[in-house]
Amino acid sequence: MNRLKKYKLFFLLLSLLFLPACKKDTPLQEVNIDNTTVYKPTPYKIQAPWYFPTQMNIPADNPLTVEGIALGRMLFYDRRMSGRQAVDSQMCCATCHLQEHAFECGLDGPFVNGQPIGIGGVPTPHVMLPLVNLVWQNNGYLWNGLIRPENPVTSKRRLEDLVWMGVVAPHEMYSDTNKARAAIQNIPGYKPLFVKAFGTGNITFELMAKAIAQFIRSIVSCNSKFDKYLLGETSLTASESNGFVLFVTEQGADCFHCHGGEGNPLFSTYLFYNNGKDTVFNDPRDRYAVTGNPADHGAYKAPSLRNCELTGPYMHDGRYTTLDQVIDFYSEGLVGSPYVSPLMHKINAGGAHLTMQQKADLKAFLLTLTDNDLLTNPAYSSPVTFP
Ligand code: HEC
Ligand code: HEC
Repeated sequence: MNRLKKYKLFFLLLSLLFLPACKKDTPLQEVNIDNTTVYKPTPYKIQAPWYFPTQMNIPADNPLTVEGIALGRMLFYDRRMSGRQAVDSQMCCATCHLQEHAFECGLDGPFVNGQPIGIGGVPTPHVMLPLVNLVWQNNGYLWNGLIRPENPVTSKRRLEDLVWMGVVAPHEMYSDTNKARAAIQNIPGYKPLFVKAFGTGNITFELMAKAIAQFIRSIVSCNSKFDKYLLGETSLTASESNGFVLFVTEQGADCFHCHGGEGNPLFSTYLFYNNGKDTVFNDPRDRYAVTGNPADHGAYKAPSLRNCELTGPYMHDGRYTTLDQVIDFYSEGLVGSPYVSPLMHKINAGGAHLTMQQKADLKAFLLTLTDNDLLTNPAYSSPVTFP
């Protein structure tokens, strides 16, 4: 029995024990602000197939509720969050984080070559990361993991703190928390939504951040073709299957150590590696900048490969625009340095040296990770009307 068959059999056997639970859509309740406002939040349960991890990163002081997520969705898409009056200088999280690109800005998005530029005209130091399945990610946010549970330098440790960062960073919304809070406070329709979500109409930036963090935690990608395959609802083509085998075998392309796949449906370990792109390291925001550990020079978080079809440009600096270029890099473009991760087993050979057919197969497999439900789910898209 080949590896793929074994893998599938393993999943099939397990699936007899657990019932698949991936609901395709979990439409959010629209809050009717004309009704009398009551605080009776409805607990929200993340829906994902049985093979997703059960351990989730939901802080005890910010449980997911239908009302909290609905409010967070409003704020995520509300350009008045930037605290500015002039419409052409307004910005929100969704200015850069676009649903149709797994919440990145995309190569064809609003910015040239997928390089976001903040409202002050300053480009972001790195390109984007997707806001997908973050409820299962707790090793540190951002490419270098700066915002992390054990952060000794500042109190910025949680997803909630990324909201603060998005609002204040000069290369993002370039505002301040007081302005953002005042802007939302001055919109009468928001007050009842805060009452419903948090039991108070006293709007603080902390509550705004909590709501947006709830919305982001609710964004789940679990219905790609590959998921349907694991659930026995569809089969892979020969090329896709071959690509998967290449992905998860050391003698093949050897991607799985860092990008999961076998027993890791998130398609990333979310750990930090130097994947052999350079010989000189002078980025002041690599993993070394966070840990001070010399082994971390040139290391970055391995991004999830779910929806990677849509998340170009690739790598922290966006040096590749197509998956073909990324595959060529892993196939014959690796360069050695003392910092390359020991998990880059092909480093001495300069790459995995895949044939044209193997490259095509690997790409075909990567394309099975695109989740159209994520990209179109109305629960994650912009509200039609704002308060
Ligand atoms: C100007 C574009 C821009 C805006 C506006 C923006 N972001 Fe981001 N966001 C980025 C970029 C670029 C990164 C990657 C930054 C890095 O790691 O260097 C990022 C990263 C993140 C991450 C980390 C994801 C991970 O996997 O570690 C989160 C969470 C996030 N943003 C949330 C938000 C929220 C919430 C808002 C609104 C308050 C927001 N962003 C506004 C560009 C933007
Ligand atoms: C040693 C760990 C490791 C291995 C093995 C590895 N990668 Fe990566 N991968 C990374 C890291 C780390 C990054 C981000 C690097 C950066 O931003 O500079 C990355 C980035 C990527 C990206 C770009 C993602 C994005 O959104 O920017 C793709 C696509 C990718 N890898 C595919 C693969 C494939 C295919 C293989 C197997 C041929 C593979 N990787 C093997 C660690 C690894």
